[in-house]
Amino acid sequence: MNQKIDELLASMTLDEKVALCVGKDFWHTQDVQRLGVASTVLTDGPHGIRKQVGTGNQLGLGESVKAICFPTGSAIAASFDPNTSELVGSEIGKLARKEQIGVVLGPAMNIKRSPLCGRNFEYYSEDPLVSGQLATGAVRGIQGEGIAACLKHFVANNQEYYRQTANSVVDEQTLREIYLAPFEYAVKHASPNWVMSSYNRVNGEYVSQSHKLLTDILRKEWNFRGAVVSDWGASDDTVASLAAGMDLCMPGPAADNVAALKRAVTNGELSEETIDLAVARILLSLPEQQAVKAQYDFAHGHMIAEKAATESAVLLKNDDDILPLQDAEKIALIGQYAKVPRYQGGGSSHINAAKVTSAFDVLGKRDTISYAQGYDDDGILNEEVLINEAVKVAASADKAVIFAGLPEVYETEAVDRSKLAMPANQNALIKAVAAVQPNTVVVLHNGSPVTMPWLGEVKAVLEMYLGGEAVGAATVALLYGEVNPSGRLAETFPLRVEDTPAYPYYGIERDDVPYREGNLVGYRYYDTMHRAVLFPFGHGLSYTSFAYSDLRITQKQIDDTQTLKIQVNVTNTGHRFGKEVVQLYVANPVGDHVRPQKELCAFTKVALKPNETKKVSFELDYRAFAEWNVQLHDWLVSDGPYTIQIARSASDDDVLLTTPVSVVSTRRPRQVFDVNTPLGDFLADPAAKDLVIGALHNMLGARADKLDADDSGDESGALSHEAMLASAAAMPLRALVSFSENVSREQLLNLVDQINRANAKEE
Ligand code: BGC
Repeated sequence: MNQKIDELLASMTLDEKVALCVGKDFWHTQDVQRLGVASTVLTDGPHGIRKQVGTGNQLGLGESVKAICFPTGSAIAASFDPNTSELVGSEIGKLARKEQIGVVLGPAMNIKRSPLCGRNFEYYSEDPLVSGQLATGAVRGIQGEGIAACLKHFVANNQEYYRQTANSVVDEQTLREIYLAPFEYAVKHASPNWVMSSYNRVNGEYVSQSHKLLTDILRKEWNFRGAVVSDWGASDDTVASLAAGMDLCMPGPAADNVAALKRAVTNGELSEETIDLAVARILLSLPEQQAVKAQYDFAHGHMIAEKAATESAVLLKNDDDILPLQDAEKIALIGQYAKVPRYQGGGSSHINAAKVTSAFDVLGKRDTISYAQGYDDDGILNEEVLINEAVKVAASADKAVIFAGLPEVYETEAVDRSKLAMPANQNALIKAVAAVQPNTVVVLHNGSPVTMPWLGEVKAVLEMYLGGEAVGAATVALLYGEVNPSGRLAETFPLRVEDTPAYPYYGIERDDVPYREGNLVGYRYYDTMHRAVLFPFGHGLSYTSFAYSDLRITQKQIDDTQTLKIQVNVTNTGHRFGKEVVQLYVANPVGDHVRPQKELCAFTKVALKPNETKKVSFELDYRAFAEWNVQLHDWLVSDGPYTIQIARSASDDDVLLTTPVSVVSTRRPRQVFDVNTPLGDFLADPAAKDLVIGALHNMLGARADKLDADDSGDESGALSHEAMLASAAAMPLRALVSFSENVSREQLLNLVDQINRANAKEE
């Protein structure tokens, strides 16, 4: 600890210390005025700041100060660009300085286990690497401004259904590889000051009370140096939370929680050192109190929001190069969202946006533009009349651009989505317009995947996600080709909700939620199971084209202590400046256990002028080839031929270049044998083999040779030589007792003991 904190702790009474471990009110930490310890404001996050005016509540219903609303997490993730999340993070940090906020409650980075999660719009991706890298950018941006960031919601908080009590039942390997991995990445690469423990339980224990998660993994394994705050109201038992490694229980004032902590220290249930440690972590993780409000340039912030939205938009379809639009073309703008865009979701992340720009604000005055509302989210205006009017406007234009998506009530905190479908009136509108206008483009405003029953009837689809307050200007810039789309889907768009990996288990159980799909989450599932999707993870088009060549790796064989260097050339073969997201997947060996077919192990975004070529380099370490091993409780590389794939998306059809690499593990976990171990395992282990063959010779005589001899065979002819070997290899050692009069279980137990002792000595 540091000296100042030591001195403070020495001067504080127990009452003052326990009070500091609980919020002063909904948004402030406790102060200790006599010692000059100031109270600090914590504020949502994650795509702006929501500093409430007055006392307020957490659901965004209270008035909050004006701020910039940036694109939400699912949009930012589609930028596939940590620099974009850093840029936005730094604006959020500046806004926080303006409001004298100490901690921004973001980034939100839970894995998208199902597209039905009501908060997916706040989250980044179904992939741990994309989530981890984007969160790292956001933390760097926020903390670069001297404001503390807070990763949330740690961990396995993947649904809103009974989110405060649900128990995520996740196997150890899946928890590590999919759900903990993004937090691990961000903790290790960005050193966030804060982590928020989530509402839910994991394997029976509230995360806020899990010593394993908060202390053993987060602090001891990952070296997290900051403080842990509970999600608002997440702590079931404050004393147990502090003992587990949580530091700050929010919100406050909660006199009962403070009293419980004091009582626990006084009666010896909780040590005073635990409280001291929590107080020290809280104080060390809060930035210096700012004496004055900083200035903030709102015009600049709005411009950054627009830039981030253009960087994040995904061109899903563009038949006949219908986009970009030409200035001279007569365009029918259709849809309520063209005038009143959907640009953020509901709940605690809701920002009081400083200035919202719609596409109509930008285009409305041009004489090439006509407009029809098309649908009414509030259901007040007559659907048929709106559709008929839209059809008329569309038919008399050169092209129709329909703004559609999901109404806010479909995507909001605390409520999961019930379906993937867009509202029926919007789907009907798109079909009706496309029937009269062959050049129809759909612009989507939604925070998570939707189904598109009209996809075959329209020529282009531009996914803007919930693109923040400048989404209108960004959309226009993309539609008219002032900016070339460069976003890629950070989540799979499925064909049907029934196809999604968690479908049978999602939103059904309110208590124990089984994560039975294991680590086959998102594209890992669709790819491994060869399931068709609407649009694959990683997909996104451009107004230019790119070619890949010259894939090289430094070594054809590495071991797990070495890094593999990979290079590939990317060329812009079209006529416009554009950005390409180069995606590197590692295809796993087909082994003797379940593994996703391939996994994204690196990516980068590269900007190219027409005809320009750039060399892109990647480095992979052992983690690209490792799995979480539940015997070792550690990462372990399986030996094998792996394939490096450079791909345009996670779909097998989009793999462009491949090269094999052989990876060898230097770590040979010692196998512990017992009488139920298959014979083949004994014979495959160099030390065990000789002992087994020797012992069996003594017990079985010449018949033992058959186990290992190449010329052995089933004399009756009923089994082939291979089948015979395979069946012997799979037979547990103990079966020899049943198949031979000369072998006793005791002999086998002695043999196993001898082997295990010999192997242990060798280590
Ligand atoms: C949400 C958090 C949020 C907190 C404070 C909770 O209900 O889950 O994401 O930071 O409220 O508003």
